[in-house]
Amino acid sequence: MNERNAPSRGLAGLFGRGRGRASGGNADDGSAMLKGRHIIEPGNLSLPELDGLFDLAESIVKDPARYSEVCRGKILATLFFEPSTRTRLSFEAAMLRLGGSTLGFAEPGASSTAKGESLADTIRTVSSYVDVIAMRNPKEGAAHLASQYSSVPVINAGDGGHHHPTQTLTDLLTIRSIKGRFDGLTVGLCGDLKFGRTVHSLAKAMSRYPNVRFVLISPPELEIPDYIIAKVFKPSGVQYTQVRRLEEAIGDLDILYMTRVQKERFFNEQDYVRLKDSYILDAEKMRLARPDLCVLHPLPRVNEIAPEVDADPRAAYFAQVRYGMFARMALIMKLLGIVEGGGKKG
Ligand code: NCD
Repeated sequence: MNERNAPSRGLAGLFGRGRGRASGGNADDGSAMLKGRHIIEPGNLSLPELDGLFDLAESIVKDPARYSEVCRGKILATLFFEPSTRTRLSFEAAMLRLGGSTLGFAEPGASSTAKGESLADTIRTVSSYVDVIAMRNPKEGAAHLASQYSSVPVINAGDGGHHHPTQTLTDLLTIRSIKGRFDGLTVGLCGDLKFGRTVHSLAKAMSRYPNVRFVLISPPELEIPDYIIAKVFKPSGVQYTQVRRLEEAIGDLDILYMTRVQKERFFNEQDYVRLKDSYILDAEKMRLARPDLCVLHPLPRVNEIAPEVDADPRAAYFAQVRYGMFARMALIMKLLGIVEGGGKKG
């Protein structure tokens, strides 16, 4: 029996609120302390914990067979109240490749949410069945709320325009694998910096590394929210500049993080239509970039990157997709307290 459901805890132990450990991110040992943690935003993981997680992800990349049975008997729920391709399927692929199982729903209409059930009750129910929950919800704060009612770890797979921490793990693992470091990088964030939750999470995570510089490339209507500047950039002392044209900035960048204009978060269609093609990365703009630029995009792309760029060796967004699965494999193992590959030998 899972220690969370141990009989000694009685009914309170079985159904109690908020028993997942507070998302602290203060542990220094880089691994063991992650067991049972909720992952709501990037700050829930300390830098040593991130290092431990990326080390594990890299070991899985090198020898996936070693990890193919480590989650045998464990179940991941994917509760998606908003559309997804990569995040949901990479979570499911991750759990299946660790030997575990998955259940869940890909749209709220297929759950009792359609009958009016509250998120709290859905989470109380699902956490009685599974070992870990990955949830996406259009409402900011939904993942935090879910964590208060869950008896198992909740992983935020995107809460509205707020945060998307496992996309950040994906982005950081890709950067670490390609660049070999985080410190001293100049990172261009381009597109919808206002509503793009992947941008908010990446900005928060990268601000913790030394000498990182951000170049914020957006139209005035889609600038990064003030709270990121006030609560993330200013306290960390990270350098940032704002520009309007991608051509002005691209030559200075180590990383270019392109994003889609988030249609579903606009209040009116006209504004979306006006802004949707603000930036299109094409072969001509790539000629202005450094030979070692790394182009990332959380995907899905709409028009922001012309298909001609896909063949450029600096385009890393499909490699990034694959790193996402390995990052999630490592995260699931850590949250379940599975420390090392004890799977198939030889
Ligand atoms: C992103 C998201 O859902 O925030 N997609 C993803 O998870 N890879 C980015 C987006 O939808 O534009």
